[in-house]
Parts: sequence; structure tokens; C-alpha cells
Amino acid sequence: MKNKTKTKTILSGIQPSGRLHLGNYFGAIRQHLDFQWKGDAFYFIANYHSMTSLQDGKKLEKYTYDIALDYLALGMNPEKCTFFAQSDVPQVLELAWILGTLTPVSMMEKGVSYKDKVALGLQPNIGLFTYPVLQAADILIYHSDIVPVGADQKQNIEISRDLAARLNRIFGGEFLQIPDAYIVKSVATVPGIDGRKMSKSYNNTIDIFDSGKVLKKKVMSVVTNSTPLEEPKDPDSCHVYALIRLFASESKNAEIRQKYQAGGFGYGHAKKELLSLIDDYFAEARDRRETLSGDPDFVRDMLREGGKKARERAEVVMGPIREATGIIRSFSINS
Ligand code: ADP
Ligand code: TRP
Repeated sequence: MKNKTKTKTILSGIQPSGRLHLGNYFGAIRQHLDFQWKGDAFYFIANYHSMTSLQDGKKLEKYTYDIALDYLALGMNPEKCTFFAQSDVPQVLELAWILGTLTPVSMMEKGVSYKDKVALGLQPNIGLFTYPVLQAADILIYHSDIVPVGADQKQNIEISRDLAARLNRIFGGEFLQIPDAYIVKSVATVPGIDGRKMSKSYNNTIDIFDSGKVLKKKVMSVVTNSTPLEEPKDPDSCHVYALIRLFASESKNAEIRQKYQAGGFGYGHAKKELLSLIDDYFAEARDRRETLSGDPDFVRDMLREGGKKARERAEVVMGPIREATGIIRSFSINS
């Protein structure tokens, strides 16, 4: 039963599958950071989910700590928000199994994300196939109220709602709370340097923590058409401008639009503007990341603390489910 007066639990997960890019930032991370002030926020690093596409232990471990650093550097406040690794809450796997026994195969077969990933060349393993069941367990184990996610995750949240209702119905109780999705008001899809959707899978990303020569090279290679420098240009069909408008203030935006339309402003000029906007925008985060990366204990301690809090919450939800499903437990989680 939802209690309207209780502080809302906000939950979201981030896969540690490599370096974060501008699409991730404007499509998801920025909203996660805003949401941490709006309730009891739980954010976790979905390292088990990453295993569906990354089977390299050293990389997965590195990416897990990297993403923690990235979030901290970008403004996540561990005092305000419980930040932890999925693998520090074993109850999630336990609930995922139970939910899996209630999940029709046909429900997974309709999974859009599964089909997309297989089409992109990922191995169709069982983990990838049942990815939404694990995601449902992630969400339901903390009695989450709101799940801020990108539009591409909507189907998975619907699956979570369906599975929560099934478990409650079959075992006769309000064991799980039905969560609401909050679909982040997506800025239009962020284009990559080749003009397609920016994505790791397309190798066309500009990464949040790219800097110096690497950043410059990427920005300079964003595709443009061949309108000569002196001619007026249409900002709305330009990938460089699509990126500029994410970073620029309203007045700066208006100024750059005007330059496009006036002519005498080449794509090289636009790219220089973009480069300096990106540099300014992430300057503070880069400095913070640099400082934090010199203190690995801080990150580890934060994840340990976050994991402890998340486990405590998960255990409260899991106890009655074990009882109702007849799953015996001959030890206490604390011994
Ligand atoms: P990738 O396509 O690089 O593998 P993910 O699928 O891991 O990225 O994306 C994680 C989050 O970032 C998702 O919530 C998604 O909505 C958002 N996101 C990723 N790429 C973009 C993009 N190009 N534009 C807007 N949002 C994006
Ligand atoms: N599937 C999400 C993504 O690819 C990551 C994720 C895993 C998640 N578990 C979650 C997001 C639970 C929200 C809630 O971005």
C-alpha cells in the first residue's frame, strides 16, 4: 500500500560498461543528480547487468569504481543519496530468481531492448534474455516509489510493475510495492560524432571526461555538410549545433544561432565554440575527479556504507517474501 505522507524512495541504476558520454549525461545522469534532492535516493551500479555484455573481470571491476568516481565528480552527494554496488545486495539475486519463476517466457520474448542488443551483435545469453527480471528485483527490493529513467527503459519498468502485482496476487499479500516510472524529459537524442545516436555501440561518443587533444580531435570530427564558410547555415540541421545547445546559456545559444544564419561563420568556428563550452561545463567536475581519484579509500568506503544501508532495506522486504514462498533460511544474514 502506498503511504502518501512518507518520503518517496527514488531509485535508479547505472551499468558500469565503460566511459560515460554526453548522451548518458544529458539523457540520464543530469536527472539522477537533480533527483537526489527530491526524496530518499538510492542509486546503484548495476554490475551484474553489465555482465550480460562484458565478460572481463578486470575491466568490470575498474569500470565499477570509475563510474562511482564519475558520479561523485559530477555532483552526487553521498550524504544525501545511498550509492552502492548491486553486488553488495545479495537479496537482489534472490528476489530475481523468485520473480523469474513467475515470469512467462513470452514476456521476455517481447523485450525490445533484448532484441536491439542481439541485433547489435551481443550474444543472446540467458542473462541478457532475463535482464528485465533482475532489473525488476533491483527496483522492487527497496519498495521504490519513483524510478527516473530514459524513455528506452519504459518497458522494463512496466515489467517490474507487472511482476510485483503477480507476486502479490499469487502469494496473497502486499509484499512488493508497485513503482512509478519517471521518464526523464529527454533532450532530443544526443548525436554522436557521426550524426547517429551517440552510443558506445557505435563508437561515436564524446566522453564526459575527455579533455585536451582527445576531446579536440573528437569535436573537430563531428560530421557537417559542405556549405561554404561564407554562406548562411541552418543551425537546426547541424549536429554541431545540436551539441552546442545542450551546453550554452539561452543568450549564448541565440548568439550562435544568429551567427549560423548570418553567414561568414564556418563549421570550424562552431566546433571551436563547442569545444570551449564543453571545457567550461565540465571543468569543475574534472578537477573533482582528479582529486577523488587520488583517494580510492573514499570511494570504497562510500560504497561499503551505501551497500550496508541498501542491504538492511532489502532484508526487510525479503523476509516476508521468503516466508510466504516457503523458502527456508537456516542462517541469519548477519551471522
Ligand atoms: P549506450 O547506448 O552508450 O550503451 P546506455 O544504453 O548505457 O548507452 O545508456 C544509459 C542511459 O543514457 C539511458 O538511460 C539512455 O536513455 C541514456 N542515453 C544513452 N545514449 C543517449 C543519447 N545519445 N541521447 C540521449 N540519451 C542517451
Ligand atoms: N537497464 C538500465 C540501463 O541500461 C540500468 C538498470 C539496471 C536500472 N537496473 C535498474 C535502471 C533499475 C533503473 C532501475 O540504463
